[in-house]
Amino acid sequence: MRGTDTQVGIVGAGPAGLVLAHLLHDSGIESVVLELHDRAYVEARVRAGVLEQGTADLLDGIGVGDRMRSEGSVHRGVNLQFLGRRHRIALSELTGGKAITVYGQQEVVKDLIAARLAVGGELQFGVDSVGLESVDTDRPVISYRQAGHEHRLRCDVVVGCDGFHGCSRHAVPRLRTYERDYPFAWLGILAAVAPSTDELIYAFHDRGFALHSLRSPELSRLYLQVEPDEEIEAWPDGRIWEELQVRLASEGWTLAEGPVLEKGITALRSFVAEPMQHARLFLAGDAAHIVPATGAKGMNLAVADVVVLARALDTWYRTGREDELRAYSATCLRRVWRVQEFSMWMTMLMHRHGDAFTRRVQAASQAYVCESEAAARCLAESYVGAATL
Ligand code: PHB
Repeated sequence: MRGTDTQVGIVGAGPAGLVLAHLLHDSGIESVVLELHDRAYVEARVRAGVLEQGTADLLDGIGVGDRMRSEGSVHRGVNLQFLGRRHRIALSELTGGKAITVYGQQEVVKDLIAARLAVGGELQFGVDSVGLESVDTDRPVISYRQAGHEHRLRCDVVVGCDGFHGCSRHAVPRLRTYERDYPFAWLGILAAVAPSTDELIYAFHDRGFALHSLRSPELSRLYLQVEPDEEIEAWPDGRIWEELQVRLASEGWTLAEGPVLEKGITALRSFVAEPMQHARLFLAGDAAHIVPATGAKGMNLAVADVVVLARALDTWYRTGREDELRAYSATCLRRVWRVQEFSMWMTMLMHRHGDAFTRRVQAASQAYVCESEAAARCLAESYVGAATL
């Protein structure tokens, strides 16, 4: 008996926790994933849907890419629109052939859960009262309740993949946090209408930012910049479409409208917690960092974290070497801050904010991206993940 119940205890069944469980399984490392919510809730949670080249390749590599390849779409360009003028950034041409895949995060989660269960992986939904104990020792414990029973899961290593509101981060002593709030939020809708575009349109308009994204040949995903304290009740469907029509308008192009299936308002925030580890406790994904949605990087960063962690755990279990595990936080934070920089830059480039001086500087920045191939390449490299992977 090892004195442990599993090798790696994972809190949270979002993309970070699930991808980690798969990678560990492929290395012959046993894990248990514990999730607060039930399966239906996790699978229905609507998030962004842009996968960097490296993220899509990784999902293929762990054998969960089939539906992504058949139902998702590969985009070789993205449109930026400034005051009605549309400008295409040729992502693939500018990055040596790389592309993004548009496929909803909740679809990725569904595929990961199905694959996890198919190989008999331990995945418990609907647990509550999750707590971490003995995190200063080399025998950390996850305590939790399930169906009225108390459980204690003794692990070699615990990984907190439990998101921004999870408990894991708070178990790291002397945690430093860095944060920025933005003076706007996003109102997002899912609409039952064929997308009016093949490639995403990020639009800057005097009335605020708008984004046309897609989910399938019959489903469109659209967003509007709104005030941070805006109530969703103030936005009946008619008003949303009216505003989208104004902000996305471009000569010779029309936006098709359809029934709104879902709508919600999300705050934009930049957040980083350092360090991302303490003794045998590691943080990954939103538990450690949040990026504003403009760069569509959230899930990609989460996956990048667990790739680093899975590799380090594989080395540790195989050879006993701890150097990669010790370097986990520093290794991840280099990418995290790079992506924070890009996400904040995209956010400030595309949203209405600031005074008249800010607006003029912003207009200069927008013109530069349209006129300079070097500037467009910078954007493209970061957008497809070529600059960070
Ligand atoms: C989305 O499709 O939901 C989406 C796309 C691009 C973003 C954010 C969200 O930057």
